[in-house]
Amino acid sequence: MALRRFDIEAGGDSFSFKPETEPTIAFWLAKYPEDKKRSAVIPLLWLAQKDNAGWLSEPAMREVADRLEMPYIRVYEVATFYTMFRLQPVGKFHVQLCGTTPCMLRRANDLKEVCQSKIGNKMHVTDDGRLSWEEVECLGACVNAPMVQINDYYYEDLTPESLGEILSKIENGVEVQPGTYVDRLNSAPEGGLTSLTEAGLFDGSRNEIAVLPNLPDAAPEPEPAPVAAAPKTTLIEAAKPKPKADDKPDVIEIAAGEEDDLKRIKGIGPVNEKALNELGVYKFRQIAAWTPANVDWVEDFMSFPGRIEREDWIAQAKQLAAGEETEFSKRVDAGEVESSKDEGDE
Ligand code: FES
Repeated sequence: MALRRFDIEAGGDSFSFKPETEPTIAFWLAKYPEDKKRSAVIPLLWLAQKDNAGWLSEPAMREVADRLEMPYIRVYEVATFYTMFRLQPVGKFHVQLCGTTPCMLRRANDLKEVCQSKIGNKMHVTDDGRLSWEEVECLGACVNAPMVQINDYYYEDLTPESLGEILSKIENGVEVQPGTYVDRLNSAPEGGLTSLTEAGLFDGSRNEIAVLPNLPDAAPEPEPAPVAAAPKTTLIEAAKPKPKADDKPDVIEIAAGEEDDLKRIKGIGPVNEKALNELGVYKFRQIAAWTPANVDWVEDFMSFPGRIEREDWIAQAKQLAAGEETEFSKRVDAGEVESSKDEGDE
């Protein structure tokens, strides 16, 4: 394990928690008996790091030790052991790049080169204070390797190009979407769902608290819900107005063989193409003409909120409809994109 020292100079002489953090501190302290309150050292260090621009100064560690009535050295031991605690200043957006074996085998070293060229050496903070990066061990998202964590969010299935784009957007103050950057839902297969296709697996309806049967002190069965079961929605879905039926995009009928190869749009694999065709969407020009309401409708229909915009389907479709190429369509045409091949393609 690397030797980690904290930056005494940069930390100044004092630190105090933000007033709005106090209720969260009280929440954590309430979990432990008074004489065991040092058990809250990790959550309090985490909160101190959040209140100190993403890193732990020496005064911040002392403040945590004082609150928990711990010797300073005990708090330093914890802070210097766990790499989730940063001991020197970081950028407003701090990139933690996983370099462990599964990510390394999926080209994490190429992602390192992107960080090196766009940000600089590890733990260097860019002049505008926006970016810094470091390499960390497995972040538990190996199925979506290679990946990085930026502040609190994961960005997964990255390529040097997609990471470069993310960093450029952050540099320019443009919002970036966390999650996967290939044609898949979370960690489902690329190209769309294949075997576990039941909607109930993804709409939250299976997240109810289960009571195991036949336990000695099993809690009583929960009362059935008083209201007739309504379709379950996630909080995000509930907050978003449902697209109206008339927001459905215009569809067409065409003769067999006249379809465009929609898989030349980055983000559309064989499964999504089939779903679009079944909807009556066959041509680039149709997608190019979608309005924001159409996009919402299609995203709702295909259960992937935010993805069409993130992958910029419409701009790609406009170029392809005009007979131009995109970098992605060139790779598809050259047979370099496995996830864009139909079954039976070579
Ligand atoms: S190896 Fe990178 S997330 Fe596990």
